Amino acid sequence: MADNAKLTLDGKTYEFPVITGTEDEKAFDIGKLRAQTGYVTFDEGYKNTGATQSNITFLDGEKGILRYRGYSIEDLSSKASFLEVAYLLLYGELPTKTQLSNFEETLNQHTLVHENLMKVFEVFPSGSHPMGQLMTLISALSSFYPDSLSPSKNPELVNLTIIRLLAKMPTLCSMIMKKGKGHPIVYPQNKYDYVTNFLRMSFGNVTDDYMPDKVVVDAMNTLLILHADHEQNCSTSTVRIVGSSHANLYASIGAGVAALWGPRHGGANQEVLEMLEHIRDIDKGDVKKVVAEAKDKKRLLFGFGHRVYKNFDPRAKIIKVACDNVLAKLGVNDPLLAIAKELEEAALNDPYFVERKLYPNVDFYSGLIYKALGFPTPMFTVLFALGRMPGWISQWKELREKNEDIGRPRQIYNGPALRPFVAVNDRK
Ligand code: SDX
Repeated sequence: MADNAKLTLDGKTYEFPVITGTEDEKAFDIGKLRAQTGYVTFDEGYKNTGATQSNITFLDGEKGILRYRGYSIEDLSSKASFLEVAYLLLYGELPTKTQLSNFEETLNQHTLVHENLMKVFEVFPSGSHPMGQLMTLISALSSFYPDSLSPSKNPELVNLTIIRLLAKMPTLCSMIMKKGKGHPIVYPQNKYDYVTNFLRMSFGNVTDDYMPDKVVVDAMNTLLILHADHEQNCSTSTVRIVGSSHANLYASIGAGVAALWGPRHGGANQEVLEMLEHIRDIDKGDVKKVVAEAKDKKRLLFGFGHRVYKNFDPRAKIIKVACDNVLAKLGVNDPLLAIAKELEEAALNDPYFVERKLYPNVDFYSGLIYKALGFPTPMFTVLFALGRMPGWISQWKELREKNEDIGRPRQIYNGPALRPFVAVNDRK
């Protein structure tokens, strides 16, 4: 156990307790800092701030470790199904066979969306971005389930609200994909598992009995698991801060989807593919020029860099291998894969990227798999959201169960000091 942390200010010494996590991560508990010293801390972008004590996901950015509830991402992504992982994240343990089949059965009873929600969906123009549609539809669910508005009073109702959202996600995501293509939507069939159902609704048609290839189902399972949680990233922190006001689950997750949309976060997977196409079509494959422009801050290398991973992103390692396998199994020869590998190699051997510890992240290779599976580029971030859903929900659930304080940071004000009001006619 570490000693208390000591802070000396103006000749006075203050002590703050040290908190130690399971894996020996340490933090100063500064909960009484302002009350005792009159000071707050300043940490733009929360680079050094632990916002919560969580039991869900462990990440070591220096060693490239990621675990959900103690299980390694390598094991989970190769041995479990997405629903097993969703159950693990939500309820803390891997399900038994019976628990898993009950979970699947319960989810299957809630896969349909209300026909009036379809009317909200119908008014989106066909070219509207899938993430804007998803964000709106998820928030709109709160109107259809008024019993979700103050869920904390009844744990069974909380669970029903959670089940509804998780169950409807594949339906909502595939509806959005169908709209983009101008095709009629395909309804869920509850005899299929979660991932198969999603792929059927996305790639099937009302006119045929499409069944996805096992290669495609397995690849989708792996990608969804790899995206399922990532502790206090931007969108999850958003979910938690919105949830801390006791906003309902649908409103909190809708806000998380908004945060994920940004190109510095989940929106990067769409940007990566567009960047690779730009390199192929406009830069004529000149990867060296692209790296030079990134170093000159003229452009960002999307899919590179991470706030926490400073060695490698373990998900990117798995996705790179999966990308090679899936494309080979599907017989897809995508020249963008060669460009991506060349770009990675050039960046990893350049001192600018080495010094700043910039490595490929989860978004660098995922889009190439989504593309090979047949998803249009604007759908990529929706697929990230589909995978992240169990993580967001688990983090919201944990926050509510612990009844954490409302999130409300302080600031250092740098604007004008008090000045006299001047009437409009007297202003110069
Ligand atoms: C995700 O946090 C999570 O866990 C997120 C996520 C999850 O699962 O939830 O892992 C998912 O969001 C992955 C990240 C996707 N974003 C991108 O791929 C966009 C490109 N990357 C970046 O914009 C950036 O690296 C961030 C936003 C990911 C991280 O930003 P940081 O930690 O604030 O780092 P920074 O922007 O301050 O960069 C440090 C230095 C800077 O140079 P200097 O000022 O020191 O000279 O590195 C440079 C940056 O300019 N830099 C890059 C770069 N990323 C950082 N330079 C060129 N290309 C890049 N991609």
